[in-house]
Amino acid sequence: MTYRLLFVCLGNICRSPAAENIMNHLIAQAELTSEISCDSAGTSSYHIGALPDRRMRAAAAEQSIQLVGHARQFTPADFEAFDLILAMDRDNYRHILALDRTRAYHSKVKMMCDYATNHADQEVPDPYYGGTDGFNYVIDLLLDACAGLLADLDH
Ligand code: 4NP
Repeated sequence: MTYRLLFVCLGNICRSPAAENIMNHLIAQAELTSEISCDSAGTSSYHIGALPDRRMRAAAAEQSIQLVGHARQFTPADFEAFDLILAMDRDNYRHILALDRTRAYHSKVKMMCDYATNHADQEVPDPYYGGTDGFNYVIDLLLDACAGLLADLDH
């Protein structure tokens, strides 16, 4: 059975699609494609159907990672459909948990930065209203956190 990961941010156009595609990149390198699958979603409806943000795509391309997918909104059905749900920041985390009224799925929801080993950040910073450096930083942080997550899943 495939282990299913869902990455969640606010808009599903910057951080969570970057996390999804970086994770897929590492999964392919580790030849674990048949064992782990990835998707992403946003807590908001702001950008439903949109491609990943051009600035985020450019930052990922510098690391030879292509960002694919279209934005969708997180839905309570995702609690059942995924094994692990990774929130990019505390607002996303709180928003997701608020949709789990019975608390049945609370243990499936984690903070992405808990898996980073080379960064002290507790949240993946929202790059949307900032400059290029912010987008590059998100890629750097997510490469670290995704590697930590893969190592965690692998044992
Ligand atoms: P994301 O970034 O949550 O990483 O996709 C954002 C995208 C859009 C907005 C905020 C953050 N927005 O306010 O439209």
